[in-house]
Amino acid sequence: MSSRLRENRKTAEIRAKLSETQLQVTDFIYPLFIEEGTNIKKEIVSMPDIYRYSLDRINEELEEVVELGIKSVILFGIPLHKDAEGSESWNDEGIIQQAIRQIKRDYPNLQVIADVCFCEYTNHGHCGVLCNNDVDNDLTLVNLRKQVLAQAKAGVDMVAPSGMMDFAVREIRDELDKNGFQHIPVMGYSVKYCSSYYGPFRDAADSAPSFGDRRTYQMDPANRNEAIKEAQADVDEGAAILMVKPALSYLDIIRDLKNNFDLPIAAYNVSGEYAMIKAAGKNGWIDEQKVMMETLLSIKRAGAAIIITYFAKEAARVLNDNKGS
Ligand code: PBG
Ligand code: ZN
Repeated sequence: MSSRLRENRKTAEIRAKLSETQLQVTDFIYPLFIEEGTNIKKEIVSMPDIYRYSLDRINEELEEVVELGIKSVILFGIPLHKDAEGSESWNDEGIIQQAIRQIKRDYPNLQVIADVCFCEYTNHGHCGVLCNNDVDNDLTLVNLRKQVLAQAKAGVDMVAPSGMMDFAVREIRDELDKNGFQHIPVMGYSVKYCSSYYGPFRDAADSAPSFGDRRTYQMDPANRNEAIKEAQADVDEGAAILMVKPALSYLDIIRDLKNNFDLPIAAYNVSGEYAMIKAAGKNGWIDEQKVMMETLLSIKRAGAAIIITYFAKEAARVLNDNKGS
């Protein structure tokens, strides 16, 4: 005979005891957009409450982040000068290298993760070196080594290659190990789909491709078996964490990875997912705060131990308030 399951929902106390999933502030990684220049704090139109900062103003944001108990940030750079290969990305005085040094100096306990890619640095907006109008995998690997070494020398805590080049994790792992940076882990953007949910990010980071799309390197949203292959490749190449991106339309993929691999799974709750909730919230069509918390909870329930999200600060406020009451 089946039991009366509603007995388990009767009171707040019982529900709290039986809750299978809990969000914590320490689950979150907060993305930061850092622009070369001075005195910049510019809201991103399609991402309300998210700003681009110049380095001289980034501490305003970081004070809040640290105060709220957020332990990790992931950095995206917007350089002044772009070229065909994205060479600013491996300049020791480039925007991200400067940012890493400054943040580690001012907030030594904050984990600083660097996104490793070229689309913000190339004048064509693609994620690597072009050859016959497509990104050349192995030429891009050579530059990936340079970028990651510059970030390591600046003091980064973890690197996260997001370009979906084959063997990126292997090359990066090798470059780090060869240069005495064995302690720096690689978080692979292992399963990154070619998604239209990245639209607002590309406004934020000035990284939209000037022609074509990313279909020759990012994954086809139709594919599930291929996700396992991509994740297995990153495991074999030495990744410490596996990421799925985007999160919401890909909760099945998050669960597949969770069930198939022992490494921690991260999920990227991307810009378009953020923008939709914000837009509906601003219109009064949904309860923005509740939908935000339900969304983040569902990503964790699917199997993500780590959630990269533009909601990190707002969700931290909710979690901290609940703890206090
Ligand atoms: C660049 C990169 C992208 C995102 C993170 N790193 C965009 C893209 O692939 O075009 C998307 C993040 C977001 O939408 O929030 N390789
Ligand atoms: Zn890219």
